[in-house]
Amino acid sequence: MLVLGIETSCDETAAAVVRDDRTILADVVLSQLDEHRPFGGVVPEIAARAHLDHLDRLVAEALRRSAVDLAALDAVAATAGPGLIGGIMVGVTTAKAIAAVAGKPFVAVNHLEGHALSARLSHGLEFPYLLLLVSGGHCQLLTVEGVGRYRRLGATIDDAAGEAFDKVAKMLDLGYPGGPAVQRAAAAGDTGRFALPRPMKGRPGCDFSFSGLKNAVRLLVAELGTLSDQDKADVAAAFQLAVAESVADRSGRAMGEFARDYAGPAHLVVAGGVAANTLLRQTLAAKAADCGFTLVAPPLALCTDNAAMIAWAGLERFRLGQSDGLDFAARPRWPLDPGAKRLRGAGVKA
Ligand code: KG4
Ligand code: ZN
Repeated sequence: MLVLGIETSCDETAAAVVRDDRTILADVVLSQLDEHRPFGGVVPEIAARAHLDHLDRLVAEALRRSAVDLAALDAVAATAGPGLIGGIMVGVTTAKAIAAVAGKPFVAVNHLEGHALSARLSHGLEFPYLLLLVSGGHCQLLTVEGVGRYRRLGATIDDAAGEAFDKVAKMLDLGYPGGPAVQRAAAAGDTGRFALPRPMKGRPGCDFSFSGLKNAVRLLVAELGTLSDQDKADVAAAFQLAVAESVADRSGRAMGEFARDYAGPAHLVVAGGVAANTLLRQTLAAKAADCGFTLVAPPLALCTDNAAMIAWAGLERFRLGQSDGLDFAARPRWPLDPGAKRLRGAGVKA
């Protein structure tokens, strides 16, 4: 079975072809970083236009690299939400047009489901497992029980973790995108110089919070006045450690809940752009080991936004007999667990 996937929900334009034996035949990603850099963040209108400019070429490139023609495809999948609506509409419309022309089924994919199932593409992981999704727009812990079966154990009550990284990078004038810049600066920093809060640490439940930490950094930066490179490195190091410890604490609680509900081998999957953070990975690996879990981290190219995970999620749904009509409307919000309470906060898209 072969599925073409399209991803356009944020600032990556991507197309990929995957096969049901977990082979990624082609995975093409075009990042719009240069278009958005002057604005210090993603501008929805610029993103939508850039997707429109590049998507056709990327789809053709993915098909060329995989040596697959449209007739050989079994289905066409696209991210249909949640995310920036203009971009999603470009991807969904393109996928529907290809599906209509080729006479193939269209599968509307929830972007979060793409992240949630990416460890099954990279590692062939069996259900159930625990997922920590940490990106610029999402921060949540979910049990993944099966395709389409998710239970949210916790989520951010204000900002997403990546959003906090990006804002702190702005405060420290480190450039865009913020996460990698903070990590680079922190490498030369002393984590012991400044004490920052560990949001939610020790509290019941598995929710996250980052706005208080962000504010603590803002106050610290204001107090320091003019910042030397060493000051920036020390603030970045203190902030990064605070995030890692807070996320590990919340994940530890979720692992406790998961272990009460499910016997057998226990896996914690970490996905999303912030999963690229080395200290976070180390801290989570140690926490997982403490809790008797194995940490599974898909390769970086599958952690950040990509189309292979969308093609794969589409394939998983399609082989269960699911597909969608060409009247399926793009959804700016689309929670994986509709029973969980609605999320709010800076950049939160689920
Ligand atoms: O998953 P992603 O590519 O896009 C979505 O938000 O969906 O994640 C991007 C986020 C940004 O906030 C970026 O600053 C953050 O991931 N990020 C990092 C690192 N690399 C990317 N945060 C911390 N450390 C990193 N090394
Ligand atoms: Zn994402």
